[in-house]
Amino acid sequence: MNKNSKFIQISAFNNIWMISIFTSTIVFLLIYFNRISLYFIIPVLLLLALLIYDSIQKRHSVRRNYPLIGRLRYFLESYRPELRQYFFEGELDGKPFNRRQRSIVYQRSKNVKQTISFGMQDDPGRIGYEWAAHSVYPKKADIQSFKVEIGNEACKQKYNASILNIGAMSYGALSKTAIASLNKGALLGGFAHNTGEGGISSHHLQGGDLIWQIGTGYFGCRNEEGHFDDKLFSEKAAYEQVKMIEIKLSQGAKPGHGGLLPAKKNTPEIAEIRHIKPYTTVHSPSAHTAFDNADSLLRFIERVRILSNYKPVGFKICIGRREEFEAIAESMIKTGIRPDFITIDGAEGGTGAAPLEFIDHMGMALTDALSFVNNTLIKLNLRNDIKLIASGKVITAFDIAKTLALGADACYSARGMMFSLGCIQALQCDSGKCPVGIATQESSLYKGLDVSDKSVRVANFHTNTMKALSEFIGACGYSNCSEIKASSFFKRTSLNSFSDFNELYQLKN
Ligand SMILES: Cc1cc2nc3c(=O)[nH]c(=O)nc-3n(C[C@H](O)[C@H](O)[C@H](O)COP(=O)(O)O)c2cc1C
Repeated sequence: MNKNSKFIQISAFNNIWMISIFTSTIVFLLIYFNRISLYFIIPVLLLLALLIYDSIQKRHSVRRNYPLIGRLRYFLESYRPELRQYFFEGELDGKPFNRRQRSIVYQRSKNVKQTISFGMQDDPGRIGYEWAAHSVYPKKADIQSFKVEIGNEACKQKYNASILNIGAMSYGALSKTAIASLNKGALLGGFAHNTGEGGISSHHLQGGDLIWQIGTGYFGCRNEEGHFDDKLFSEKAAYEQVKMIEIKLSQGAKPGHGGLLPAKKNTPEIAEIRHIKPYTTVHSPSAHTAFDNADSLLRFIERVRILSNYKPVGFKICIGRREEFEAIAESMIKTGIRPDFITIDGAEGGTGAAPLEFIDHMGMALTDALSFVNNTLIKLNLRNDIKLIASGKVITAFDIAKTLALGADACYSARGMMFSLGCIQALQCDSGKCPVGIATQESSLYKGLDVSDKSVRVANFHTNTMKALSEFIGACGYSNCSEIKASSFFKRTSLNSFSDFNELYQLKN
């Protein structure tokens, strides 16, 4: 710091004291001569106190250098997402989901106008721009065919799943009214609802089909030590509503990262659902204790299959080390045990809370992962026994068609379903202060979310997206989803060239 700037700081500091002394004297004189009301004096004195406090505190340099006024910066910054969204956001701005993506979910959920006007906002000359090839012989695609049977020959209770289902989000990450709305929506619309790894709560039991997810914490089926408990598992797996079991190995937003339930969020209700002690901090480790290599993972799948009385069993994975997935696939041949389905979650997937490095730089994106898994299974002649479910920013009919073209049999949408509940992308899931009552446990917030209204929106989103898919693939010349070909989808790879998905992802089908 040079001499001059030191001088400026010292004089700014002195100025504060001079302003304070001057203001106090004026206020004192006005009181003395009875010329001013007490209602005016109190706020002035409070502001003065803040001014003095700011100038002597040492944590925030901006406030120390610009007392009182410096506070504006923090105040405005705390409303940055809202200000941006309300005033400055363009149609294709906004992350992770742009305004156009969010708006189409709101429109489809509310069953209101679902068209847009005037033309494309995206730039078709942009590298990465994707499109589908239409046909001069469009077909009528039947919505009733948008189903897939999950369960290979080892399964005795096959499940006829919709090609679009609600992705895993636990009760705990989401509120009780959000979970109940999702499950009722699944019932109304005839699709499935993944429980997330937090166990099955009464809010999940509204009549909609469930895919029970089991994570490293084995919530709802764990013993005192936190290990998998056969008896507890088989009791819950027998619920009529539980249609499939998903063992979670990893999720795209935080692969290889465990979770933590803080003691204050561990209420007696949550503790009972998860089979843990209330008001204690509970860790979900990053690794499973029931298996530690490819063979033992497959033996665990077989154990779970038997305990669930042969319901479809699969696992969820975000692709990291490719050789590990290849080893699992090879072990399927060695052991003869095949999962009924594999869920592939892209690195672009969402979460309630995770470290920045995991969200931004860990795991493989959905399109690359899906084509890799599909190709690996085809190469080893396993593909016919295993269905693939894809998740990672699936919002529109185009997103669904694209993932089906890359080898998926069905999709999950997690954040899309949150939008259908009214999520405004406030980016506050980890604060517990979700303004629309979805990602919160505060009753003052979640009671604003009306289950009877929101469940209809969830079902509408599904129905209208299926209608959009029917129109979209029909225009491409397909009459059902199984006909969709990767060669109908294109990506711009440079200013003057583009490739179809077959060339890009070297698909083996
Ligand atoms: C609030 C929230 C909670 C989540 N909880 C879970 C969970 O319990 N288990 C899991 O496997 N994935 C969880 N996920 C990830 C989603 O299931 C999904 O894999 C990911 O968000 C990608 O789908 P999307 O792009 O449609 O949201 C969660 C995501 C969000 C946004």
